[in-house]
Amino acid sequence: MDVNGKIYKDFLSRIERFKVQNGPDKNKKQHLKGKLHARERIALLFDKNSFEELDAFVTSATPDTGFGKIDEAFGDGVVIGHGRVNGRLVYVYSQDFTVMGGSLGAVHARKIMKVQELALRVGAPIIGLIDSGGARIQEGVASLAGYTSIFHNNIRSSGVIPQISVILGPAAGGAVYSPALTDFVFMTKKTSYMFLTGPDVVKEVLNEVVTFDELGGAETHARKSGVANFIYEDEENTILGVKKLLSFFPSNNLENPPYIEPSSKKEKDVDKLRLIVPDDPNKPYDVKKVIELIIDQDSFFEASELFAPNIVTGFARLNGKAIGIVANQPKILAGVIDINSSNKAARFVRFCDAFNIPLLVLEDVPGFLPGLNQEHNGIIKHGAKLLFAFSEATVPKITVILRKAYGGAFCVMNSKNIGGDYNFAWPTAEIAVMGPEGAVSILYRKEIQSTEDPKKLKMEFAAKYRHEVANPYIADEKGYIDEVIDPADTRKKLIIAFETLENKHVDQPERKHGNIPL
Ligand code: HXC
Repeated sequence: MDVNGKIYKDFLSRIERFKVQNGPDKNKKQHLKGKLHARERIALLFDKNSFEELDAFVTSATPDTGFGKIDEAFGDGVVIGHGRVNGRLVYVYSQDFTVMGGSLGAVHARKIMKVQELALRVGAPIIGLIDSGGARIQEGVASLAGYTSIFHNNIRSSGVIPQISVILGPAAGGAVYSPALTDFVFMTKKTSYMFLTGPDVVKEVLNEVVTFDELGGAETHARKSGVANFIYEDEENTILGVKKLLSFFPSNNLENPPYIEPSSKKEKDVDKLRLIVPDDPNKPYDVKKVIELIIDQDSFFEASELFAPNIVTGFARLNGKAIGIVANQPKILAGVIDINSSNKAARFVRFCDAFNIPLLVLEDVPGFLPGLNQEHNGIIKHGAKLLFAFSEATVPKITVILRKAYGGAFCVMNSKNIGGDYNFAWPTAEIAVMGPEGAVSILYRKEIQSTEDPKKLKMEFAAKYRHEVANPYIADEKGYIDEVIDPADTRKKLIIAFETLENKHVDQPERKHGNIPL
């Protein structure tokens, strides 16, 4: 090509127009709102100079219907492409709020679908950086169809490649459902919102007065709805969080998670594990202290920390290998399983299973939460999800019973009978049909009622029951668990046990798919 010729000059003039359209003014506009621009976010996400943009020059298909201004910017309000995150290939789309509020029209949708389809084809994770007013009003049904095709792609990719949504501004209307279909949702505090319809419409239709934050801010979705799995103060930390999460994942469902050399070879003070569970069975303790003493130094990355904190879910490394941890948290509601904790843990288990991440379960649970509220809202159905998820999972699965494993909770928390590969128990474990107080009230009702001091007698019976019936040695003798272990040996035992399971294979009955109780 003649570099001084007409064709080349035309090419350069397009580049110039592109630079002007995407210049510093765009960044300023976003900074005024306390946000970064779509391209600045991409620069934070990817290894230096690794981003390759696609479709930078496409223009909008939005017709001028007379309703609202049509921007003429290249790109139609979304930047797409691929790059490297810590050396690994990742696809991205990043919505540009400075172009028609990042709203989604036909071309915008086609661009997102392009990276979705490429990511699926090559088996690489995809990340959506979302900052959008939802379906582009001027484009009508074309916007709705665009969103719907994106949802369809999300669903086709589910369980094949990791999909992460990062909400960095509004995610309104149709913009919320793609994140809901992906594996993990990140949000920034104060600048991000997710809702079906904003406060104005809520006021008009329901006469409810709410702020953006109350309706769909990061805290709301992290604590109340559980829609957000990770929240951070600002965009820089949010994107760092995304990179950290990716470090635990394989690129697709046919690969294993990457090995990362443990940062410290220092021996852990594992003797402390013997002292964590209090002598008094009704006293709480923090299961995260147990986690820290078992896993590689500082490798725990908790997911959905603020939602249903009575169960802890998160990723960690054990001797350099990624694992997913599900742990009852005795410090909160005694670690009881309720509707929210069942949903949270079941979804986590299914993610780990889809992406070959072995599961470690730390069990200390008095049972399912009873009562009117839970029953009326379907604890039967929701609790069954956790049972289904553990039972269906074919990744290596190991349980350590730290203390209570009563009733249905024993069955659910990856018992051997639903396919747990190894189930260990600490000497402090209590395994039985129900807790001692409930059990003796049924077994010794007459004796307790007819004595002068029923409370005292009940306590005596309960202590006897705990000692003679609910101890872990009965389960051990009968083969319902594999071994009662010294708490100080837990890390060592788990490393060896997971190593034996590296080539685990489970034959599945042929079927289209199971029918998890949704
Ligand atoms: C077209 C839109 C738009 C939209 C925003 N804009 N949303 N253009 N379609 N959906 C434009 C604005 O007109 C404005 O253009 C620019 O983007 C910036 O918007 P502002 O309102 O000035 O910004 P801000 O004050 O920060 O408010 C952001 C917002 C608000 C909260 C997102 O714009 C808003 O409420 N938008 C509508 C959100 C919504 O209800 N979406 C649902 C659509 S229905 P100018 O030219 O002035 O810069 C839907 C259903 C799909 O999505 C269902 C699929 C299953």
